[in-house]
Amino acid sequence: MSKLVLTGPGAVDGALRDWEGRVTSVEDMPAPDAPVLLFDSGVGGLSVLAALRGLLPEAPVLYAADNAGLPYGDKTEAQVAARVAGLLGRMTERYRPRLVCIACNTASTIALGMVREVLEVPIVGTVPAIKPAAARTRSGTIGLLGTAATIRQGYVDRLESEFAADKVLLRHAAPELVAAAEASLRGAPVDPEVCARAAAGLRSQAGGAAIDTVVLACTHFPLLTTELGAAFGADVALVDGAAGIARRIAHLTAGQPMHRNGTDRALFTRDDESIAALLPALAARGLHGCEVL
Ligand code: DGL
Repeated sequence: MSKLVLTGPGAVDGALRDWEGRVTSVEDMPAPDAPVLLFDSGVGGLSVLAALRGLLPEAPVLYAADNAGLPYGDKTEAQVAARVAGLLGRMTERYRPRLVCIACNTASTIALGMVREVLEVPIVGTVPAIKPAAARTRSGTIGLLGTAATIRQGYVDRLESEFAADKVLLRHAAPELVAAAEASLRGAPVDPEVCARAAAGLRSQAGGAAIDTVVLACTHFPLLTTELGAAFGADVALVDGAAGIARRIAHLTAGQPMHRNGTDRALFTRDDESIAALLPALAARGLHGCEVL
């Protein structure tokens, strides 16, 4: 068996290894057109796709939106976990991705561990960017905008105690921003009041006036960076995890052959009329094909 380039973590002895560090063979390498599967409840994962394209322009991508389950933010933990595990199981079976990225904070903070246990494919999650925000803040007060489901997760508590124990972290659920991002990608103008309400939800909390850094802990929110930037003002930095996720995907796929065979596709879980309005935004991001699971 000829050896190829090193790949994956643990490639320390010159052997070709898979993502878990097991010695692997040429035949185990993903096909050049095996996609990176980006999964979200809706358009939020497109903010991750933008970062991924910058780093891995040749990576074939299958963008999956669980539009039948949108929004995840108002669902219970059990509902989100069941949907995400079930759908990713079907999608990995059918599309054989080289890697799955759960490009959704809500799904990741609830179901990442469980999905990793049941699927063989490498999984990259999306966790609120509390660590970089803590490194950046000067005032010591950080705001966090997410869905209602994300902001109550123990996962967020753990990130807070690990990386921001000496900071003040104020959380606010902003489900309106999810709907605004969905509408915006379909060509609708964003109502500045929606972003103003999200900003006020943090600012009006005790100590909120000191916020100088805001974690966008929902992948939909970086799609509204301009509007949120205007709502918070130039002195507040908006931080999200997209660049770090893209780096992680690049690391886990290093050395793998990649070729975008034709066009990348978007996959939906329900055929509905709002998909048509989204097609121009998808095409602008290189997603020309479109299908329903
Ligand atoms: N994009 C998802 C996230 O990052 C949430 C949107 C939703 O509520 O479905 O949390």
